[in-house]
Amino acid sequence: MIARKQIPATEIDKQKEYMRRVRNASKERGAHAYAYVDTYGCQQNEADSEKLRWMLQEMGYELTDDEFKADVIAINTCAIRENAENRALGNVGALIHTKKAKPSQIIAFCGCLAGIPESVEKIRQSYRHVDLVFSPDKLWRFPELLFRTLTAKGRLFDTDVEDGMIAEGLSSHRDNAIKAWLPIMYGCNNYCSYCIVPYVRGRERSRSLDAILEEARTLIAQGYKDITLLGQNVNSYIAEDTLTGFPDLIRKINDIEGDFLIRFMTSHPKDASVDLFRAMAECEKAAKHIHLPFQSGNDRVLGLMNRGYTREGYLNKVAAARGLMPDIVITSDVIVGFPGETEEEFEDTLRLVERARFDAMFTFIYSKRPGTPAAELEDTSTREEKQVRFDRLIDLQNAISEEKHAQYVGKTVRALVDSESHDDRYPLKARTNGGRLVHMLGSAELVGKFVNATITHSNSWSLFGELST
Ligand code: 5AD
Ligand code: SF4
Repeated sequence: MIARKQIPATEIDKQKEYMRRVRNASKERGAHAYAYVDTYGCQQNEADSEKLRWMLQEMGYELTDDEFKADVIAINTCAIRENAENRALGNVGALIHTKKAKPSQIIAFCGCLAGIPESVEKIRQSYRHVDLVFSPDKLWRFPELLFRTLTAKGRLFDTDVEDGMIAEGLSSHRDNAIKAWLPIMYGCNNYCSYCIVPYVRGRERSRSLDAILEEARTLIAQGYKDITLLGQNVNSYIAEDTLTGFPDLIRKINDIEGDFLIRFMTSHPKDASVDLFRAMAECEKAAKHIHLPFQSGNDRVLGLMNRGYTREGYLNKVAAARGLMPDIVITSDVIVGFPGETEEEFEDTLRLVERARFDAMFTFIYSKRPGTPAAELEDTSTREEKQVRFDRLIDLQNAISEEKHAQYVGKTVRALVDSESHDDRYPLKARTNGGRLVHMLGSAELVGKFVNATITHSNSWSLFGELST
């Protein structure tokens, strides 16, 4: 059974009361108040930041990107790899200058790093200009925490990760009027041996079907055209009351009237079922794209990673997806230099990439995360060896992506224009149904519209196109 604890509506109402109190207090001061939210890491963090921004606006703050102007700064951090951690900590360190210039400034440290006791201790000892620290499960309590920080002396730490929390009834300030994130579940139960996420985001729990469908209907009524369902492992979504699983969730969202696309991420290969591929194939609004991280092409390494599938099992899933959707775009994640990975084992990864022929791939060098089982394993390859493997993988994937993208040239595809660009030669950016980026010719009024784009040329990373005539 899934450990799931819905925060009572009375608690959420209490937070709304705190929002009013903070807003009234800043109104009384008469001055204009600004807030800055800085986000690191994945889409879940982006979605969390949109909630923080909504709460801050409700509390009377105007949003800014200027750290010196901000009365409140929230740094929403990522812990997945050491460089993400260092970047966030480096930027938090630099805020000592903004605080000096504006001593009343409140600096809040949140996100995944705030769920790791060692990182919290570092903040407590060495980053004394940080006023408030709260772990990801406390996001819904931000109004109360901010109120208490503003009204009490001293620093506030609320960082004991509580398991299974689900908060409904809080809104989001969405950055984009066309694409929206829609979290459907939180946490992760997979404990891949290299990954810190299960420790900081707690156990898997799914939002109720009604809450998700209502949010989806609202987004569609507001004109959103591209909705990404978010979860660490969306395939293990299960509505507690109706026992609706992920494929049926896609079907139910597909039934909502309107012209929009359903995307999702991330999908764990061990739980990606034929029924999921069937649902994707039969639902016309489901984007024909799956992000299916394989992490390694070698069975011994996959076992050490605790991934729960084999190389052949993975390739069979890819074949099953392509069998039902010949044009499906498949993207993936891979880690090189996992502790003990030999040269031959790495070659298995190269060979898997050759066989799977991903449209795009995110390649990461293994980063040791203290507290995870892999951190205890002996690391046998040097940083330089890992870099060589990394470069070889990138070169191979770039060549495959280039070939795959070249196949679009001369074809006309449906694409959603999602923004203007900063490139005068191609003023628009669009995405194909499979999520490939198209640099487009055309004018700003096309933003937010589905268009037919004729692809004129391509490279490893993207397509270039014009409106079809
Ligand atoms: N080191 C390197 N990459 C990692 N990932 C997760 N944990 C680590 C780590 N410790 C990668 C995985 C995952 C992606 C989001 O980040 O490939 O799919
Ligand atoms: Fe980390 Fe594995 Fe969970 Fe993904 S599925 S968040 S890699 S533990």
